[in-house]
Amino acid sequence: MSQELLTLIVTHISRPVPGSAHIFFDMQEQPVPDYQVGQFLTLLFPDLGPVPFRRSYSLASTPGVDPQLSICVKRTVNGQASAYLTQKLQVGDILQALPPAGQFVLPETPCPLLLIAGGSGFVPVFALLKAALNRPGNDKIQLLLANRNAESVFFRKELQHLERSHADRLKVFHLLSQATATCEDELKATAHTEVRQGRMSNAWLEFWAEQVLGKQMPEAHAYVCGPPGLMLKASMTLRFLGFGADRLHQEDFIIYTPFRPEASQLPHATIALQFKNKTLSFPVTPGQTLLEGALAAGIELPYSCRSGSCTTCSAQLTGGRVEMYTHNSRVDSDATNGHIFTCVAYPVTPQVQLTIR
Ligand code: FES
Repeated sequence: MSQELLTLIVTHISRPVPGSAHIFFDMQEQPVPDYQVGQFLTLLFPDLGPVPFRRSYSLASTPGVDPQLSICVKRTVNGQASAYLTQKLQVGDILQALPPAGQFVLPETPCPLLLIAGGSGFVPVFALLKAALNRPGNDKIQLLLANRNAESVFFRKELQHLERSHADRLKVFHLLSQATATCEDELKATAHTEVRQGRMSNAWLEFWAEQVLGKQMPEAHAYVCGPPGLMLKASMTLRFLGFGADRLHQEDFIIYTPFRPEASQLPHATIALQFKNKTLSFPVTPGQTLLEGALAAGIELPYSCRSGSCTTCSAQLTGGRVEMYTHNSRVDSDATNGHIFTCVAYPVTPQVQLTIR
């Protein structure tokens, strides 16, 4: 049983910063899929490495604002897929992808927003920013961008345009670790734009967030995407300031190798699966994840990172129990109300029932 795939034709490639590619797609004989702003595409790479693999990239496009789907990629050290996308991909090439997925989306009703991003982490945050400014409501948006210098700021011109057109709602703070003498001139769009030399610390971030949000802190939603150090500092500080899981949204594409439990402690299990209006059954041997069991049985479930971070493989458990192991945690399905990720889920009961939508 195969999964639904999108066929994407590359129509244009631009370079927002050195070593990056902003890739625009048309669909091949398919309508543009419905998606929510802030979601990602999982691209399939069947021939790039010794074994087929997949990688997820945030959508830079915003539904209702941008007519074409687009992703934006920065080359990473030893990144086979990012090297291909930023150096070899050409207009006219065709890629295959899973439909857009992800939970890094805006709340349904407008509210004050605190956006924190670094490097290419600004890609999904920029999409959210365009959507927030484009929808009804007059809530304030505070954007903190951490970068090396002005040249490494993604979508610099587009951001300056938004700052000028929404000066009453959007305030941008650039924190640069290697600021140059000209960076203020290069980045300042309005009298409100702030440009500072420095690195983010927990104490500084706490001070900044309290200053820019003030009394709006309890109702604000925060969105964070960037390198691991930024993610860690921002999430620690925002939790300390009272942002719970319902108001703190994080997007993390770093792939960590997940821990594997001892197979001898686990049962042989039979899985009953509801998927695409069909009831399927497959075995999972001790030490196999649900995803591995399904793929071995020829059932093509959706997946990308295989490390428990991207959410592509989300499923709902309706019977039995599993345990999920990531690189730094073990979580029982009882603790998540049965919401699981099949790529890191090991059955701990001999019968497991689940549904994938
Ligand atoms: S495939 Fe990414 S969380 Fe499972």
